[in-house]
Amino acid sequence: MKIAALIPAAGSGSRLGRGHKALVEVGGRSLLTRSVSAFEGRVDEVIVAVSAEMCEEVEAQFGDRVKLVRGGETRQMSVRNLLDVTDADMVLIHDAARPFLSSRVIQEVAREVERVGAASVVRPVADTLIQAETGEAVDRQTLRAVQTPQGFKREVIAAAHERALRDHTQATDDAGLVRLTGHPVALVEGSQWLMKVTTPADLEIAEALAAVWDAQYV
Ligand code: CTP
Ligand code: MG
Repeated sequence: MKIAALIPAAGSGSRLGRGHKALVEVGGRSLLTRSVSAFEGRVDEVIVAVSAEMCEEVEAQFGDRVKLVRGGETRQMSVRNLLDVTDADMVLIHDAARPFLSSRVIQEVAREVERVGAASVVRPVADTLIQAETGEAVDRQTLRAVQTPQGFKREVIAAAHERALRDHTQATDDAGLVRLTGHPVALVEGSQWLMKVTTPADLEIAEALAAVWDAQYV
């Protein structure tokens, strides 16, 4: 079974405010380098969606370690462009902005994709949740926070994106689009390591985590 890692990295990183977010470094390595390295040796190809302005720099840094495609205006469009250029049987879609991805997670997602056809990494929610308007508590036991990677048999996710394009539906994650087609999505236990670097505070946390991660995993 041919497996492709698809990495959307074409966002502008507006909430972080440090230019192309995927190229921002933590512990001396860029978020994109960390995400790409996590997959190398574990999948058959790594394909990255980048914006036009990032293209040259990413090409210079990675050479033929990765295949590049042009990103779209939204994450969903970037993923569609990534799907268009692979013939893999299974795709593992992972945000460049989540730099601490373990082989355990990759293996578990791939195993669940083989079994169910679609799988998403999720986390239980630790904080108490309330409705902002009313202050009313929401039962967190039934809720999960969605992370990446999310994995799919290629036909399953391609069909979900085609349908979303036709129906003008948007989702912030790919498993959400698959769920709309009625296809089941297996849930794999993620971890706090899979945090997404979104804000300047996240970057400070990631910087501190990088020291621990690199001592353990590299
Ligand atoms: N992404 C993408 N193409 C887009 C938008 C986002 O490939 N048009 C990617 C980002 O590069 C990132 C992932 O999707 O790896 C998750 O998006 P997010 O964390 O929101 O990153 P940005 O969109 O870059 O950040 P912001 O929303 O703060 O501008
Ligand atoms: Mg965004």
